[in-house]
Amino acid sequence: MEFGYFAPQFGGNVPALETGIYNMEVIKTVKQLDEQLNAFRHSGKSIGFVPTMGALHPGHASLVQRSVKENDITVVSVFVNPTQFNDPKDLENYPRTLEADCALLESLGTDFVFAPTATEMYPEPDTRTFSYPPIDSVMEGPRRPGHFNGVCQVVSKLFAMVRPHRAYFGEKDFQQIAVIRAMVSDLKYDIEICPCPIVREESGLALSSRNTLLTPEERATAVNISQTLFRSVEFARQHTVSETHDYVVDHLNAIAGLEVEYFEIVDGKTLQPVSGWEDTDHIVGCITVYCGQRPVRLIDNITYKRA
Ligand code: PAF
Repeated sequence: MEFGYFAPQFGGNVPALETGIYNMEVIKTVKQLDEQLNAFRHSGKSIGFVPTMGALHPGHASLVQRSVKENDITVVSVFVNPTQFNDPKDLENYPRTLEADCALLESLGTDFVFAPTATEMYPEPDTRTFSYPPIDSVMEGPRRPGHFNGVCQVVSKLFAMVRPHRAYFGEKDFQQIAVIRAMVSDLKYDIEICPCPIVREESGLALSSRNTLLTPEERATAVNISQTLFRSVEFARQHTVSETHDYVVDHLNAIAGLEVEYFEIVDGKTLQPVSGWEDTDHIVGCITVYCGQRPVRLIDNITYKRA
């Protein structure tokens, strides 16, 4: 095992988009989806799947590009899932840009966009409950009650509808990937979960659909989140976990317009807090910060150690 800190990536990792014109289908119903995918399933083609809530940015594009490279067919879903929002205002404010999303997806070589209505996804209220402690009972779990349950409801349905071989998720939502892995194992789905690295702006700000809700001034302030995380990697070389935690929180809370909701330095597998750098071979710092007037809730994470 190598004990090493990971050098921060300042900018330059937003992928150059390879674009072209392809014949992409936009599908609204499960019946149409089955009709389209059955031929590919029967001929043994591999299906890659990228679930999204739309408002696509180069972070999503990197997932689609990887799926297109690794599979015969790529399906992208665009669905703002109401069951994973615990704040109705957040659901209402969530950006919806289907036309622009489809143009981007077509240029990336997506074969099918699945953009169902809420009634198509939930003809009946979904009363299933998913619970994967301790993974879903830390960080986002208690702060967004019902969020991961809603994510599991929609992703389990989408997996059953698309039946992909591989599914691609961004590591910005680090805890979401862990919860989805637990769900896939629980439901015995034969799907490979493929995590993809965070894509950042030149400034270091992690790309997020929510960034569009920030004013230019707030965006400049938000840059401090990733920059502080990057600096904390250096700081951690000479300091304890607890000192590194306080370094990040105190630094960000001292900046007008930012308020840290939580910063937890955790085991990358169990998501339980670690107390020393030698505790485990994968250590990640996960943060959520409120930014600006509205305010906009931004998340990010940084790897301190990986085997
Ligand atoms: O990460 C997201 O955008 C959503 O949580 C997901 C996985 C598409 C489920 O709605």
